[in-house]
Amino acid sequence: MRLILLGAPGAGKGTQAKFITERLDIPQISTGDMLRAAVKAQSELGLAAKEVMDSGGLVSDDIIIGLVKERIKQPDCENGFLFDGFPRTIPQAQAMIDVGVHIDHVIEIVVDDEEIVSRLSGRWVHPASGRVYHMKHNPPQNDCVDDETGEPLVQRDDDREETVRKRLQVYHQQTRPLVEFYRSMTGSDAPRSHRIEGVGSVDDIRRKVFAALGV
Ligand code: AP5
Ligand code: ZN
Repeated sequence: MRLILLGAPGAGKGTQAKFITERLDIPQISTGDMLRAAVKAQSELGLAAKEVMDSGGLVSDDIIIGLVKERIKQPDCENGFLFDGFPRTIPQAQAMIDVGVHIDHVIEIVVDDEEIVSRLSGRWVHPASGRVYHMKHNPPQNDCVDDETGEPLVQRDDDREETVRKRLQVYHQQTRPLVEFYRSMTGSDAPRSHRIEGVGSVDDIRRKVFAALGV
């Protein structure tokens, strides 16, 4: 199955992606995680992306499309994949159509902006796995370390409030239009679109997402 998880920054894409990919045994393709890995490795891509990410803007379509095209050629993508945080612009979505990638489901997780600002200020992540925690709503078993590896958790540089507000603005302007883009597709290649209210417990949202996918 090939899936797209759409939603504002902090809507819970990464959190739900872990459940979905485990259930369906498909890889999670998070362009944000890929970019953060490049920043950490101080590769050419990472150096170029860091400033854009810290400002809350979007990395250029050409770079992102190139990255994803390479990634989906890997053997683990043969039975499908979950895009998390991609596509984020109409040209990115169109690039996948142009190379014949058929998407089965588009899931939009909807959370209002004020809830998002509060969520992101409490977020801690395990960079190596992409596992996400929230100090109040989804805490780790032990203080500030990952449940599975015991390694330290960190906060993201782009979770400062002013950057979060900029990321939200960019989301509404450039990414939200994709909901309509996919809904307006017709024919046998059109994906099924689902709108999931993203406020509630992590488990409640997981159940709603699984029900929408019929898994
Ligand atoms: P990316 O990493 O994709 O970030 P994002 O879309 O802004 O989304 P987040 O990862 O912040 O949020 P999420 O929806 O995954 O929420 P999470 O599950 O963590 O992108 C980062 C940057 O990279 C971009 O700004 C851009 O610069 C660049 N980039 C990436 N992809 C790109 C692309 N395709 N094109 C161009 N540029 C690109 O949850 C958030 C918090 O809430 C956590 O603490 C979590 O524990 C908590 N939480 C989750 N669910 C709940 C719940 N139900 N109730 C309460 N708390 C909850
Ligand atoms: Zn994420």
